[in-house]
Amino acid sequence: MNTAVTMTARTDATYVPVNPHPADQFSNGFYGRDILSVRQFNRENLQYIFRVAEEMRSMVERFGSADLLQGKILANLFYEPSTRTSSSFSAAMQRLGGRVIAINEVVYSSVSKGESLPDTIRTLESYADVIVLRHPEVGSAAIAAHYARKPIINAGDGVGEHPTQALLDLFTIQEELGRCDDLKVAMVGDLKYGRTVHSLTRLLNMYRAEFYFVSPDILTMPPEILEEVKAAGLRYTETRDIHEVIGEVDVLYVTRVQKERFTDLAQYEAVKDYYVVDPELMARAKDKMIVMHPLPRVGEISYAVDDDPRAAYFRQMVNGMYIRMALLAAVLGKA
Ligand code: NCD
Repeated sequence: MNTAVTMTARTDATYVPVNPHPADQFSNGFYGRDILSVRQFNRENLQYIFRVAEEMRSMVERFGSADLLQGKILANLFYEPSTRTSSSFSAAMQRLGGRVIAINEVVYSSVSKGESLPDTIRTLESYADVIVLRHPEVGSAAIAAHYARKPIINAGDGVGEHPTQALLDLFTIQEELGRCDDLKVAMVGDLKYGRTVHSLTRLLNMYRAEFYFVSPDILTMPPEILEEVKAAGLRYTETRDIHEVIGEVDVLYVTRVQKERFTDLAQYEAVKDYYVVDPELMARAKDKMIVMHPLPRVGEISYAVDDDPRAAYFRQMVNGMYIRMALLAAVLGKA
């Protein structure tokens, strides 16, 4: 194995190919590309993906499925638990007429015999046209991309990034509020280990956003992400108190405390119930705002909030399939 792989090099890969492949006329520079980090996107190609996602929505609503990716195979390789990401990628591929090799429990695969990530990737790309990977280590998707000839889509690399989630999050913001600019966005909960908030913050750095980072002291946003916000010329406030910000925000993005990342479970117990979004809190929020959550929730949003029209987390989940349909079609040259 080539251990000298530098992950940042791949993660920061520039997006627009110098010599676009002929199939790229249909996919705006995405054909054959890996999707490793939100840093690969700009406002223009985000709008392109969102436009395709909207087309996917109307296609699904009218016909249920299409044959755009007929004959193509997706390998869904998950080393960590997943419900939404794995099933929405699988549904996305099947609704486009493709097929799926699902490895949701690597414990039943040769990974449990000690097979390395590069070898597992080489195996799957022998059978599939695109690989979706979730793995507990930061940079794992970049390593996989280094070895693979086929596109790798990062479905979460440890506490690093979760780019497709951030895309569906931003798409949801645009659909719900009609814009991605001039928004006050509060991110609440586990900002240290939550990869979704890392990716979404990076994406919103391309827009006119103002951030409130609301967390217990031991779960604050990593310094490098705060630096990126500053470098983008945007303002942020860090606070422990959700009541300070609730009346201000257009987007309240709530996250689960990531139990699996703690080495000291006593620390987890101390912060796990730190925030609960309930009707009483919602009464202090603006009429036109949305509550988001990547899900799963484990107590941070009470069920009593579900019927509030501002609760966007189930609609957000639906949007995930359309975004993933758009991404699959794009990297396979068919968008
Ligand atoms: C998130 C993840 O896996 O990072 N889930 C998801 O993909 N929707 C959030 C989480 O697990 O808390």
